[in-house]
Amino acid sequence: MAQLTQLNGQLSVDGVRLRADLEALGRIGEVAGGGISRTSFSAADAQAREWYLERCAQAGLSVEVDGVGNMFVSAPADAHRHEPAVWSGSHIDTVPRGGRFDGAVGTVAALECVRRLHEAKVWLARPVRAVVYSDEEGNYSHLFGSSALVHGFTHAQLEALTGRDGDRFVDTFVAAGWDLDRATQTRLDPQAVHATVELHIEQGPQLEQRGDRIGVVTGIVGLGGATLTYRGRADHAGTTPMAMRRDALLAASALIVGLPDIARSVSDRAVVTVGVITVEPGGANVVPQTARLSVDFRDPDGERLAQLGRAITAAVGEVATRYGVQVDLDVAPVIAPCTLDERIQKIIAGAAAGRGLSASQLPSGAGHDSQNLATVAPTGMIFIPSTGGRSHCPQEHTTWQDIENGANVLLDTVTALAGR
Ligand code: HGY
Ligand code: MN
Ligand code: MN
Repeated sequence: MAQLTQLNGQLSVDGVRLRADLEALGRIGEVAGGGISRTSFSAADAQAREWYLERCAQAGLSVEVDGVGNMFVSAPADAHRHEPAVWSGSHIDTVPRGGRFDGAVGTVAALECVRRLHEAKVWLARPVRAVVYSDEEGNYSHLFGSSALVHGFTHAQLEALTGRDGDRFVDTFVAAGWDLDRATQTRLDPQAVHATVELHIEQGPQLEQRGDRIGVVTGIVGLGGATLTYRGRADHAGTTPMAMRRDALLAASALIVGLPDIARSVSDRAVVTVGVITVEPGGANVVPQTARLSVDFRDPDGERLAQLGRAITAAVGEVATRYGVQVDLDVAPVIAPCTLDERIQKIIAGAAAGRGLSASQLPSGAGHDSQNLATVAPTGMIFIPSTGGRSHCPQEHTTWQDIENGANVLLDTVTALAGR
């Protein structure tokens, strides 16, 4: 039986249980050599989902799973209530060789909040639901689960999605036991949501540098993405003179080295990353015929994000012409930047002050499902410090005390939003 802890008569999370849950989740998908790979709809993702469902069942909570795999957790008293609910959630999928805390902290803390309210028999004016969003890291599509909720995916759109290993979403999804028709029918009823709040590690250095324990997030960066394929010609690496080649990887390389200048030309906050390159046929002594690249680009301002997208598109074409290769460009829908709800920011700041925790405002350079939810309901985010600002790597670290602090601020915030 978990211990019930009270602070000045206030309900608090069970820090020991929270840590044990995070440690258990952190063992799922561990890879030799370090890091965690829980790619959405992989075997490790399925194992994490199973573990999560089991933890909910042990706490007597009920779970609904929608057509794209988003999971919604309710206490029995809230399960059949239809008032607009307060949602809190994050994700359990990870990037390849990611850390233990990105997504996991907000997911497990939200579960802990629902579990604490349930076992303390706290009755609130609105239901509180913990949510796990599918494929936040976008192996198939960035913020996939929350994007399905707010705008949905058609069959044709799902057919076009591919993972970083080159697998088609529809094949992996169906092989994992999911139903495509149900996936296309998934959509959120905006009336179902009163407000949302997500706890997350900062993934950057600001809170640590300021010495603050809690970040009140003011807004979230806009996200653009594309997959492009340069198509040249395979030839013999020894016999084909340099001037005769149509080397797809050389074109890709020219594009990549030019991207930092393009980002700088747009704004000092713009960033561009190529994180995946696949070269075919892939022989040391064969001139590359195709080079397929991912491009991730971001800016906190919507107009500058669009400008960045146009500048990258122009460079992609210019490089293709210069190197005598063809190019296919597949641009993902832009996920708009957002400002987070000011009333919720005040509630978070008040909750931090009430717990004696120093807090300050900061924007998020990482993408989050909260930016999709912000288009349908007042939304807030709470950050806690990341040691050395590291994330999306095995070295990702946040102290257990900061995690417990963040979960308590989350508990106070959802309680305030749900209303006593
Ligand atoms: O890529 C991101 O910003 C997030 O971690 N999904
Ligand atoms: Mn991430
Ligand atoms: Mn995340």
